[in-house]
Amino acid sequence: MHIVFAASECVPFAKTGGLADVVGALPPHLVKLGHEVTVYLPLYARVRPHIKGEWKYAARSITIPFTYYNRFVGVVDGGKRDGVQYYFVDCPELFDRQELYGIRGGDYPDNAERFGLFCRAVLEATKLLGVPQVFHVHDWQTALIPIYLRTVYAADPMLNHAGVVLTIHNAGYQGKFPPSTTEQLLFPWDLFTLDKVEQFNDFNFLKGGLVYSDVLTTVSRKYAEEIQTAEFGERLDSVLRGRAADLRGILNGVDYAQWDPATDGNLAAHYTPENLAGKQECRADLLHAFGLEKVAASTPVIGIVSRFATQKGFDLVEQIAAKLSDRDVAVVALGSGEPVYEKFFRDWAFWNKGNVAAQIRYDDALAHKIEAGADMFLMPSKYEPCGLNQIYSLKYGTVPVVRATGGLDDTIEEWNAEQGTGTGFKFYGYEAADLLAAIDRALDAFQNKKAWKRLMRNGMARNYSWEQPAREYAAVYEEVARRRVS
Ligand code: ADP
Ligand code: GLC
Repeated sequence: MHIVFAASECVPFAKTGGLADVVGALPPHLVKLGHEVTVYLPLYARVRPHIKGEWKYAARSITIPFTYYNRFVGVVDGGKRDGVQYYFVDCPELFDRQELYGIRGGDYPDNAERFGLFCRAVLEATKLLGVPQVFHVHDWQTALIPIYLRTVYAADPMLNHAGVVLTIHNAGYQGKFPPSTTEQLLFPWDLFTLDKVEQFNDFNFLKGGLVYSDVLTTVSRKYAEEIQTAEFGERLDSVLRGRAADLRGILNGVDYAQWDPATDGNLAAHYTPENLAGKQECRADLLHAFGLEKVAASTPVIGIVSRFATQKGFDLVEQIAAKLSDRDVAVVALGSGEPVYEKFFRDWAFWNKGNVAAQIRYDDALAHKIEAGADMFLMPSKYEPCGLNQIYSLKYGTVPVVRATGGLDDTIEEWNAEQGTGTGFKFYGYEAADLLAAIDRALDAFQNKKAWKRLMRNGMARNYSWEQPAREYAAVYEEVARRRVS
């Protein structure tokens, strides 16, 4: 079967979060199952260095109409990697920018036009380069594909048999734009109603995608349940409940070719569950990278790697920061995003030199070093559709301390010292005291070296590779394709 992925992020070309890891890893696994997969991505400034030699255009000038003007986009052939065909949608005036979505935590003011153009360009490009049986689109940035497909393009004989699967990686980001977007993107005004794209007087990209896709998936079973409730649904819960029969939870896999301490090229030393010695070297290397060389060998190190967004729960960490600084523990944090959290981490490190250190930026190599060198990994998320870092942590023998929500709840099992079972520490209420209690349980457990090793190895033995989820997605595509022809 031919599947077209349209996404706003994809490793190794452009990444701000886990979406890029998923869109980078799932397609090659589908190819292994015998499917043909094409991935479309905007040609951002950071994609340019990945295009080697002279650019080869698969299409030179596709016309994308707007209310009073046209834009003309090219499609650059990114070639095949691991059997997957990549195409980059070239529209320099919209995509040749420093960032993907906006600068300093804000959004570019023309994001509706940027991703509207991208979605329409993908549909037009497939008519030249191959219409798939199924489009697999991801989050609000590509949610206009199903909307276009079932409205403006509904009568197109080349496209109207194609099915659409929309994966919700994060319901907290919906792509909300003013009503005038309807006209700007040349949709008929009758689309702007509450049963279609309108949501609280916004043109809501994600909502339209939920209405018009054949099947919806999200990235863990727990989150599939949660988003149907008012607490987690981000005001789309009633729409999601309405589509419950077509909503699936498929837990993300992780790419062990990139994330395995036995082979990871970013580490000072390698290690395996059988021989953990290299982890000590990784810890020393990590402490050096953060200027924390004086931390005692007996002191546990907590690692954090994250987008600094409200979703990630760092307001809870802020509430317990003073208490944590009094305990025998070191903290290393890597992240960037909302200024309030950047400031909190900078200040926390400033007042606790020698024990707490933070690097406010995006740094893939350092993220790997933290996974390997820390003893514990902290994710106190308010909500977490899947979360990849806790799954990486398991593989690296770095014990996760997480809030029991979404994929964190699905992947981490509470440590049971009597039985020697479990992989980490979980807390339930979104409360600072509950977070502190979970960290205290972890710090306690760390004192018993033998038990701690058992706990590390329990996590390292878990397998979250892509084989199983890739098969689940393939089954969804088959189902959608069957529905479309019948
Ligand atoms: P989300 O997609 O919500 O950000 P995930 O846990 O699914 O959360 O994925 C985050 C991904 O982004 C991981 O691969 C993580 O290592 C990476 N990441 C996040 N922040 C940084 C950073 N500052 N530097 C390097 N990698 C980061
Ligand atoms: C989103 C979610 C994260 C998930 C990732 C990949 O960014 O916040 O939990 O792991 O998408 O699906």
